[in-house]
Amino acid sequence: MSEAELPIELDRSGPASLAAQVASQLRVAILNGVLQPEHTLPSTRRLAVELSVSRGVVVRAFEQLSGEGFLEGNGAGGTKVAVRPDMHPRPAQVRQPSSARPKADVIDLTPGRPSGSPFQDRQWRSSWKLAVAEEGKVQLPPALGTWALREAVADHLAVSRGLAIDADGVIITAGTSDALQLIVAMLRTRVARPNILVEDPGYPTARRVMTAAGARINTVPVDENGLRASQLADLKSTPDAVLVTPSHQYPLGGRMAVQERIGLLHWAGHHNVLVLEDDYDSEFRHSRMPLPAVASLPGTADVVLLGTFSKNLSPWLRCGYLVVRGNAGQRIKATREALDTPVAGVLQSAIAHYIKGGGLSRHVTRARREYSHRRSLLIDRLGHRKDLELSALDGGLHAVVHFKAPEATEVAAKALAQGVLVVPLAAYYADRQAENGLVLGYGAVSDLQLSKALAILSGLMGSGA
Ligand SMILES: Cc1ncc(COP(=O)(O)O)c(C=O)c1O
Repeated sequence: MSEAELPIELDRSGPASLAAQVASQLRVAILNGVLQPEHTLPSTRRLAVELSVSRGVVVRAFEQLSGEGFLEGNGAGGTKVAVRPDMHPRPAQVRQPSSARPKADVIDLTPGRPSGSPFQDRQWRSSWKLAVAEEGKVQLPPALGTWALREAVADHLAVSRGLAIDADGVIITAGTSDALQLIVAMLRTRVARPNILVEDPGYPTARRVMTAAGARINTVPVDENGLRASQLADLKSTPDAVLVTPSHQYPLGGRMAVQERIGLLHWAGHHNVLVLEDDYDSEFRHSRMPLPAVASLPGTADVVLLGTFSKNLSPWLRCGYLVVRGNAGQRIKATREALDTPVAGVLQSAIAHYIKGGGLSRHVTRARREYSHRRSLLIDRLGHRKDLELSALDGGLHAVVHFKAPEATEVAAKALAQGVLVVPLAAYYADRQAENGLVLGYGAVSDLQLSKALAILSGLMGSGA
């Protein structure tokens, strides 16, 4: 296919960003075989000219798809469609007809997008007023974060996660991606290419970010209960660090039992492996009480808890935190001091005012109610179907629906043609044969939009389809 034939049409007046439109249309073209594995895409510069958008728009779309595992390589050989065992080239006759292109008013069920409501909150606005009114702020913000926000985070975690820490154990980050880069930079002060073990399936962005920062990624398969500590004993080599989502495995939703957590700590302490606990959405429990954070359990292993404001406030803020302890904690702090912080002081002040004034916990309570309601809607619409299996429902802002047929990639392509954007489970797998299913993010849609989307998806999934 020539570059000029790339199936991209942009709606410049629609609500979806240009980068999201480019990414979603390329994703569909890959999923339905219009773009075949190993097809080389035009350079970002050239595609930007063809589409009359800035190069940044195309770069963001390519990065998104690389993170999801649909594209690979951006060196001299150019960016190519990835070859993956779970993505089979499809014959030309199942290509999406051009009349079935996605509409601009797409209902986006991509996971990781929370409810946008903190921005309408009066206290949120007054926290910003207080932050901008602070006088005498002429210096750089401290590398580890402002003391006010570190203290506010420690207090918040004491209540929300039962973590007994003080402000000194908290480092403010620009979210999980920044935290992972910082940790890889710290590991690289001792090992040129640190080895990091991640869950499979897992968070594609983490794999991408840590690889870009210079780490080597190895994977360990997980099941509906998350990582099993017993699997770690069989690893061929010992990693420098292991990244886990014990509270709500991403994306399958399993939660590691306490004895598994203790087993993980025991193994990590014995082999001197740094444990990275990604605690991304543990505040949103729907049916069961949260288990204690791995970082709160006793043991000799160094554990770092990665927290983010992307889920309980908004990814637009680009802010999060690390809870550190032990020797690794000292080394992460030293690396952050050397690299300096990317987090704006005024943003830190505003979030600190919001947390201290009780705004964050009120917002989390409101959002939890909203998510819980949408989760019930999902169970109500899909839970009775014998040919579908729902998982990841205990907490968070997404669910997974598993089915035998038809292939999830086909369902996603057909759903998009009807205005619903969903991500196949396959996008989260790295080294294993993917299970057939879809990940449904319900954080940022209204109840009405979710109902509409589920009605469409219900007709496309499972044996009744
Ligand atoms: C597993 C997981 N961890 C962390 C995050 C948050 O990342 P960040 O703080 O970089 O926005 C997400 C967001 O989608 C996620 O899915």
